[in-house]
Amino acid sequence: MKLGELIQHTARRFTRARLHYGHGTDNAHDEAAFLVLRGLGLPFDADLERSARPERVEALIQKRIEERIPAAYLLKEAWLDGVAFYVDRRVIVPRSHIAFLLKDLRFKPKRILDLCTGSGCLAILAARAFPGAKVDASDISREALAVAARNVRTHRCRIRLIRSDLFEKIEGRYDLILSNPPYVSTPSMRKLPAEYRHEPGLALGGGRDGLQFVSRILAGAARHLTPEGVLMCEIGENRKALARAYPATNFSWPRDEVFTLARARIPGASRTATRPPRAA
Ligand SMILES: C[S@@+](CC[C@H](N)C(=O)[O-])C[C@H]1O[C@@H](n2cnc3c(N)ncnc32)[C@H](O)[C@@H]1O
Repeated sequence: MKLGELIQHTARRFTRARLHYGHGTDNAHDEAAFLVLRGLGLPFDADLERSARPERVEALIQKRIEERIPAAYLLKEAWLDGVAFYVDRRVIVPRSHIAFLLKDLRFKPKRILDLCTGSGCLAILAARAFPGAKVDASDISREALAVAARNVRTHRCRIRLIRSDLFEKIEGRYDLILSNPPYVSTPSMRKLPAEYRHEPGLALGGGRDGLQFVSRILAGAARHLTPEGVLMCEIGENRKALARAYPATNFSWPRDEVFTLARARIPGASRTATRPPRAA
């Protein structure tokens, strides 16, 4: 069988099985191409006319269909903005919109914090986008930080990893705080397709309205931003809920799923001391 035929055949099986996409691809063909090519150890631009041995990827295809395991977990590999990351079930599969906004920033941050770093993907992309910046990355999960450490090593970045409940152990101030925190509301958690149930619940659930972590980040960010600093935070589908919860706050929306907020616009920022805070 030719490689291209194997991909088409796999895509038809995925369509028949009514899989859910959203972990790096958004359709049956791309998901099949990812699983088949990378399952065979081939690059994305492999010659589709070459012959392929279906039996070498059959077990992966069956697991994808029968157990609804995202392809990234089966391959232990996820791609974000053209960069490959090691992943396993200790972290969510990287797919943050923030990845695509870093290059458009209109300033050059010297100190960056990636709060809720998971696999470390956003911290690593930030370190690549701003060479010379000091990048810290934090997460509450020891398991996630082990995955992040592996990715930091692979990408040869200098990133300090910190285990912290949001800002609890964070010291000093940053020009840019990135965060893709858990933000799936409790009702939405109940309706998640099977694929998402392979991801750590700790990384997804954002409380009743999805804003549990976002509110805590908004409450703590001013203490950790430089006077000109900016918070960039992903909130998924919660834009309306956020507007209802913070009617007086002037959020900017580079994407529907991501807001940015200059320190001065963060609720209560003017009441927050500007001297560097110490860790608790
Ligand atoms: C949606 S994932 C984002 C991971 C990564 N930034 C990405 O974009 O792929 C959220 C992360 O927040 C972490 N997390 C959950 N509760 C936390 C808390 N209280 N403090 C810090 N991190 C937390 C989870 O362990 C998880 O890795």
